[in-house]
Parts: sequence; C-alpha cells; structure tokens
Amino acid sequence: MRSDGRHLNVECMCREGTCGTCETTILAGEAEHLDDDEKMEQKTMMICVSRAKSPELVLDL
Ligand code: FES
Repeated sequence: MRSDGRHLNVECMCREGTCGTCETTILAGEAEHLDDDEKMEQKTMMICVSRAKSPELVLDL
C-alpha cells in the first residue's frame, strides 16, 4: 500500500521468492527476507514473500 493509502498492483509470477519478478529496491528501512537469509545486507527484496522489519519500509515501486 502506498503512503497515501492507495494500493498498487505489482507483477508477480511464482509468489514463492524464487523467480525474481517482484524484486524491488529498498529505499529506506529494513526488510525481513523470508525467501533467503543471505539477503539481509542487500538493498532489494522479493516483495511476494518478504515483509517490513522496521516500523517503516520505503520501496521503489
Ligand atoms: S513473484 Fe517470484 S520472486 Fe516474487
């Protein structure tokens, strides 16, 4: 959901964190990477399976 409360449609294919279609750049905040623990330091996330770890997560959508 956008900060203004509107929803966005994001292209997803596998919805399991494996295909990379939904890979999104993290602009601010911290993600909980549910697809791969090794991504903790990366600035992208698979939004089909990962979630916000910090109170606010800003994505480049
Ligand atoms: S839809 Fe495939 S990784 Fe997210």
